[in-house]
Amino acid sequence: MPTQYRPTFQYTSATAPRALPLLGHAPALLHHPYDFVAGLAAHGDLVRLRLGPLDAYVACHPDLVRQLLTEDRTYDKGGLILDKAREVFGNGLATCPAADHRRQRRMLQPAFHRDRLPGYAAMMAEEIAGTTAPWSDGDVIDLPAAMYRLTTAVTARCLFAAHERAGSLPVHACMDAVARGVARRIMLPLPGADRIPTPGNRRFRRARRDLREITRRLIADYRAAGTDHHDLLSVLLSTRDEDGRGLSDNEIHDQVVTFLLAGMETTAATLSWAWTLLAANPPVRERLHTELDTVLDGRPARHEDLPSLPLTGRIVSETLRLHPPAWILSRTVTADTELGGHRVPAGATILYSPYLLHRRADLFPHPGRFDPDRWLTTARPAPGTYTPFGLGARRCIGDTFGTTEAALAIATIASRWTVTPTPHQSVRPHRSSSLSPRPFTATLTRRAR
Ligand code: HEM
Repeated sequence: MPTQYRPTFQYTSATAPRALPLLGHAPALLHHPYDFVAGLAAHGDLVRLRLGPLDAYVACHPDLVRQLLTEDRTYDKGGLILDKAREVFGNGLATCPAADHRRQRRMLQPAFHRDRLPGYAAMMAEEIAGTTAPWSDGDVIDLPAAMYRLTTAVTARCLFAAHERAGSLPVHACMDAVARGVARRIMLPLPGADRIPTPGNRRFRRARRDLREITRRLIADYRAAGTDHHDLLSVLLSTRDEDGRGLSDNEIHDQVVTFLLAGMETTAATLSWAWTLLAANPPVRERLHTELDTVLDGRPARHEDLPSLPLTGRIVSETLRLHPPAWILSRTVTADTELGGHRVPAGATILYSPYLLHRRADLFPHPGRFDPDRWLTTARPAPGTYTPFGLGARRCIGDTFGTTEAALAIATIASRWTVTPTPHQSVRPHRSSSLSPRPFTATLTRRAR
């Protein structure tokens, strides 16, 4: 369980050491992003970084993170990375400014209502079964790619349960190409580099056009049929704001792309990390197998099993602590203000990092240790300490969807398979805004029960 840090009324501020002339801390952030960011807490509660000509502040103390995330009008979505993201995936829920957010969130909340989850979970279970059906004993697979295929199938199904109505357009392939293309574009350092007609850029533009066409056709088809397919698109079509207005086709398209980007890579990364952590901790894996054998007896997991699979749930929580997929996020300051008693000017970028918070030894004893039992307590962690899904008005709308999908996948797969990453390969994360592992292989061994 996370320790309760001592509240403080004096928050320290500092500039991170070892800035290089002109470049500042940009090379450190580029070359060793995770160690560099996790190390910032040692310098102060609010730490200033120099990134070339720009300054950014990192909120390292949970109180400051809580303030940053709950005062969403002073600390709005924006800043360099987000402005670029908006160019590519429009004004959807994850990127829209606070001024548009309340209306959008209210309209989309019904899509993630508790009552809808069992329906989504049933679709998830079918897609998990379908994705793993071709596996054979002894197969060696690219594990992150397999987990990404699984979450793509789940997302496609829960978004567009009737996607065969999209005709011949390749729904999965273009969702994948759009999601990956956007992630790459956000990291592109050169303005305009995304407009050069390289094969990658052409592929991305084609996939984006196809996805727009798929969404357009499905919207027309769903509207004509007037049936609820119990999927996300059906909710997007039926939701109304306070004045009785629905979402336009363009708004629906932006939300569809937002769900793809926010949900596919994050959940796939969680699953890949979970397998590496379980393989490195055989006693936990043994206990997981015992739990699954007792409850499932070899059959796939269903939504109603989850309360009887507490260790599986704790494994998901602990994986998200050690490897939070959204590991660094930003806000922009809309008016001169004070954070922790220190002045921050309008226009400044403030970063927060779940990765940094989750690896603070004063919040999580032995932070590098994979210990699902630290979550045995019923006490909730203090706000601002455990933030894999953010906090406040902009907290992840798909948090339960994502953890349900991860728990069902771990339970169904681990009840039948032992997943063992090939020895002597180092499993390292991409250096990117999303903490996902680079390709690595794993052997699947069918479990004898
Ligand atoms: C393990 C899986 C997931 C993780 C770790 C994750 C993480 C996050 C985080 C940290 C935020 C807050 C961002 C910020 O503070 O700037 C966020 C927001 C969001 N997430 Fe997730 N997410 C996950 C799964 C999903 C899924 C499955 C969906 C949808 C199907 C989704 C949709 C969204 C949306 C739409 C937002 C924006 C919410 C708003 O601003 O109102 N996420 N997510």
